[in-house]
Amino acid sequence: MGNTLRDALVDEVRDLYNAEKQLIKALPKMAKAASSDELRAALESHLEETQGQVTRLERVFELLAEKPRGKHCAGMAGIIEEGAETLEEDLDGAVLDASIIAAGQRAEHYEIAAYGTVIAWAEALELSEVAEALTETLDEEKAADETLSALAEAGINEAATAGDGNETEDEDEEEEEEEAEPVKAAEPARVGALARSAKRRAKG
Ligand SMILES: [Fe+2]
Repeated sequence: MGNTLRDALVDEVRDLYNAEKQLIKALPKMAKAASSDELRAALESHLEETQGQVTRLERVFELLAEKPRGKHCAGMAGIIEEGAETLEEDLDGAVLDASIIAAGQRAEHYEIAAYGTVIAWAEALELSEVAEALTETLDEEKAADETLSALAEAGINEAATAGDGNETEDEDEEEEEEEAEPVKAAEPARVGALARSAKRRAKG
């Protein structure tokens, strides 16, 4: 690549093009693993949105008079790899869902950061159509992130605490919203997955 900001912009757009395509492969697996119907629906709907984002990036390439070409996005690959390790764990429904949300939000935040940068660069370069198209995607990523937060806070995190105390409720406990249990994230499960993955890496 060249050394202008425009070259850097094209490079980042290629990175995003590849990141979105990686997500198109990963989201169906996350949706399939989800035990909450609402979480599954949210992931499936974001999959559809992501397909639209790929098309939108193709339009951005066109506006930039560049061929739509991806460049391996190691950042997204790492986030997806970590998420995939979580899916391999033998986790209970709600803990698994909380962990899927954790992985999904990492992916969304990565994209929010990347789109924020390319939009700012496009604006600096006075490529307003490019900036507008990318902003549409940024707004979708932010909304997807908020949906995941809302699902976690509306019951999945609370349901995921079931195995942490001495409660004996089954998985129907999501309905008992009046219970004021402290909301805990699925920290132990995720830390376990990370430790295992670190071990694996150390071995390899
Ligand atoms: Fe996306």
